[in-house]
Amino acid sequence: MKKSILFVCLGNICRSPAAEGVMRHMAAKAGVSEMIEIDSAGTYSGHVGDLPDVRMRRAASQRGYELLHRARQIREEDFERFDMIIVMDDMNYETVHRLAPSRDEAAKIYRMREFFSRFPEWSYVPDPYYEGADGFELVLDMLEDACGNLLAKLTERE
Ligand code: 4NP
Repeated sequence: MKKSILFVCLGNICRSPAAEGVMRHMAAKAGVSEMIEIDSAGTYSGHVGDLPDVRMRRAASQRGYELLHRARQIREEDFERFDMIIVMDDMNYETVHRLAPSRDEAAKIYRMREFFSRFPEWSYVPDPYYEGADGFELVLDMLEDACGNLLAKLTERE
C-alpha cells in the first residue's frame, strides 16, 4: 500500500528538505520509490520559495543527495494528504499539533527521534542554522539513521 510522508522543521531549508532528500535516495535505492510519497514543509513562512540552505546542500551533496526542494509552509490540508507527519523537534511538534484539525489527524504526528537507533542521548534533531559545519554533518548522520529505520518499518509489512 502506498504511504505518504511529510517531514517538518522550522524553516524548511535545512533539516526537513534534507530528510526528504535522504528518504528519496534510500527509497530509490531500495526500489520502492513508487510506494512512498515524500515531501517536506516548515512551520515558519520566512523562507517560502527558497532552495535549501547552501551549507546543507553542500554537505548533502558530498554524501550523494541532491536537494532541490523549494520551501513551503505546512497547511491544514497536509493532514488529509499525508499518512505520517514527522517533525524534527518539540517546538515543531507543538506548532504542528495545534494545526491538526482533529484528534485522529493529530495521531499522524511523529517525532524523528522515534526512528533513531544510534543517538540515545538526543531527543530531537538539532537546528543547524546557527551552527558550524559540524552541525550539518550531525543532522545528516541522524537523518540517515532515522530514514533507514523508517524505510525498513514501512517496507516490512508489504
Ligand atoms: P530548519 O533550520 O528549521 O532546519 O530549516 C532553520 C532555518 C531557518 C531559520 C531557523 C531554522 N530561521 O530562523 O530563519
